[in-house]
Amino acid sequence: MNTHEQYMADFNTIFDGLDRWGPGTEAETIKAFKLLPSIPQTVLEIGCGKGITTTVLAKQSDAVITAIDNHEDALSKLRERATETGVADKVITQCASMTDLPFDDASFDVIWAEGSAYIMGVNKAFKQWRPLLKDKGVLVLSDLVWHTETPSAERLAFWQKEYPDMTTVEVRIKQAQEAGYHVIDNFTLSDKAWQAYFLPLQQRINDLKETMAESQALKDIQTELDIYHQGFEQFGYQVFILGRFE
Ligand SMILES: C[S@@+](CC[C@H](N)C(=O)[O-])C[C@H]1O[C@@H](n2cnc3c(N)ncnc32)[C@H](O)[C@@H]1O
Repeated sequence: MNTHEQYMADFNTIFDGLDRWGPGTEAETIKAFKLLPSIPQTVLEIGCGKGITTTVLAKQSDAVITAIDNHEDALSKLRERATETGVADKVITQCASMTDLPFDDASFDVIWAEGSAYIMGVNKAFKQWRPLLKDKGVLVLSDLVWHTETPSAERLAFWQKEYPDMTTVEVRIKQAQEAGYHVIDNFTLSDKAWQAYFLPLQQRINDLKETMAESQALKDIQTELDIYHQGFEQFGYQVFILGRFE
């Protein structure tokens, strides 16, 4: 295994032990769902991971949810979770890349992407995913944003390395408008949403520290966790609820 393969293998070992792969709570997923202008019949969830959001969405309506991810093991966990929670008949899984989605234009009432659009770039996602929405369709996505125009040097250095495309809410909204959406609403995820992500992750790192002492992936994740432990006054996760213009 080369260094990159080892890094990715370690990364997967760490995250495979967790259900949630990004900040969020069931309550805030429901909050965003309730802000939709109408009840959807068809939902595409992109970067669904193990389905922590999928099963919550499935309980909110009768919509068929097509959940896509490029990680087959995660999709298999999602199917187990959907069966356990009694929503398997409403969920279709598909292993696909978010950059090359195998769906016809105007296929979905809603596209939902919690903590995943950054992987291809949020602005690119705004543009590429829009044609898949029906008229008056809605895109819901969450993204890490700056809450200040003047972050501290330490935070700036860290996030420029980890997420160079990170920007402010205002810039994301402008990009969304330019891509052909109007803002229905947006809100900042709570500290509880962060804790739901980083506390189990910290526990996982603590459990693996001895056996993976030399792992660069583990060290990098601990550095990221140290930033979270210091609080969220300069950055946060923002949920955008965006309607497609005609
Ligand atoms: C940060 S995780 C968020 C997962 C989930 N939404 C959650 O909140 O737990 C990002 C997800 O995107 C998936 N992913 C990464 N690259 C992808 C790609 N090119 N196409 C589809 N999914 C991808 C990962 O496997 C992972 O499940």
